[in-house]
Amino acid sequence: MRKQNLIWMAIIGACLLLLVGFNGQTKRVHQPNMMSIAHRGASGFAPENTRSAFQKGVELQADYLECDVHLSKDGELIIMHDDNIDRTTDGNGFIKDYTLAELRQFDAGITFSEEFQGESIMTLNELLDEFFDKIGLLIELKNPANYPGIEESIVSLLRNYEDLSSIIVQSFDVESMKKMHSLLPELEVAVLVRPAESLLSEKKLDELTSFASYVNFNVSFINKRMVNKVQQRGSKVLVWSKNDKKLVSKAHKYGVDGIISDYPTWRIDKPIYLVQE
Ligand code: G3P
Ligand code: CA
Repeated sequence: MRKQNLIWMAIIGACLLLLVGFNGQTKRVHQPNMMSIAHRGASGFAPENTRSAFQKGVELQADYLECDVHLSKDGELIIMHDDNIDRTTDGNGFIKDYTLAELRQFDAGITFSEEFQGESIMTLNELLDEFFDKIGLLIELKNPANYPGIEESIVSLLRNYEDLSSIIVQSFDVESMKKMHSLLPELEVAVLVRPAESLLSEKKLDELTSFASYVNFNVSFINKRMVNKVQQRGSKVLVWSKNDKKLVSKAHKYGVDGIISDYPTWRIDKPIYLVQE
């Protein structure tokens, strides 16, 4: 009797699955056009903004590596997220108070794990040297108002490269991105929108999309309408998140152009599928 019940339950379950499968509600679709950007390199797997994280991003077949840039005491473009070295190295103090030679003394891998002990702080010059030919680069200027002349330094570095189509420069600082655009109009720039300011007015959208090729949001603070408004104006949208587990599914639901993630593995682990409604 129990066995019979189990058989009936299995038959009913199979029928339900077939019904769902045939009513057109659950078609699986791969979206290969979604850009994958390794946030601070593939920083879920290796210390953020280091050579290892950038190499891992390439290995995982990301389209771009995202990195953050500050200026050292001697005017070198230093790749690090925070304006100080406390969290990500074995030292402490502000980047602006050290020369590059001094910053080289610190270990940028050990706070992530012993496996990465000895990892060196990188410069933007080195990142371009080593990765320009391999992958796109999304370069974020961190608090550029604190580093007068940082836009000019980046432009002078980028001028060494003939084809800048694989480079995007971004910042939360709108004026800095306007400046980058006027210094080097062929370079694509992106404006990062602070979560609290994500509901942009029509006027603000017009202003940003007049010079920015991308308007980038934290995925938890936008909706499809806002994405559409940017895209209708001819710009693209990238979304990022540090902890929203629905980053990928929301990104697809909203129809954005790319995802900035610490774990750019989805492309090879499993193709992205979504449920068509
Ligand atoms: O690229 C988006 C993202 O990098 C902005 O936030 O703090 O990780 O630099 P944060
Ligand atoms: Ca960043």
